[in-house]
Amino acid sequence: MNGILSERDAPIWEAARPWLDVRSNDEHTLISYRLGIALLGAHPDVEARVVLPAILLHDVGWKMFPEEKLAHAVGPTAKYPELQRAHEIESVRIARGELERLAILDVDIGRVLAIIDGHDTRPQALSLEDALMKDADKLWRFTPHGISCLCDWFETPPKETVAMLESYVLPKLVTDTGRTMARALLADGVAMAWMREALRRTTW
Ligand SMILES: [Fe+2]
Ligand SMILES: [Fe+2]
Repeated sequence: MNGILSERDAPIWEAARPWLDVRSNDEHTLISYRLGIALLGAHPDVEARVVLPAILLHDVGWKMFPEEKLAHAVGPTAKYPELQRAHEIESVRIARGELERLAILDVDIGRVLAIIDGHDTRPQALSLEDALMKDADKLWRFTPHGISCLCDWFETPPKETVAMLESYVLPKLVTDTGRTMARALLADGVAMAWMREALRRTTW
């Protein structure tokens, strides 16, 4: 591990980065990458060489769509839900080009692309590698950065946002480890949302 990324994954991050400067996707991707490493720690038999490159490239396709639509493409009241499938297709196309250009010996391009294709719209995981990628992606929403982004996108206060995470996103996590990590992150999210609301009440 060289800094935040492994030596194998650093060039993949550099290739993904120019595609990730929309919708806070760069922060989302790096946080999900580290969440993926945490999940892999509890699943030593799952292949990191498939999970981690898939995480780095899964959302590169969002850049192909108008930025003002992106915040309204996900969540329980999405205005443009069709973009969920559309960004997967674009992500696969862009990821294929970048991975073929990089030609990293240890990266199985076919398996990585199969996971990216369907990471949001396919509820069932095709493999444990797919399951950990899906959970790393969704777990980001439970982090302080994720909650703050969702509050902005959906224009909902933190208390409402964490309630949505608990009722709508938590049941979509695939692995027991993912659910445990989500509940741990929610401890922070729920307490911080409650504190913020209490503070708002006392300052009125
Ligand atoms: Fe996505
Ligand atoms: Fe994502």
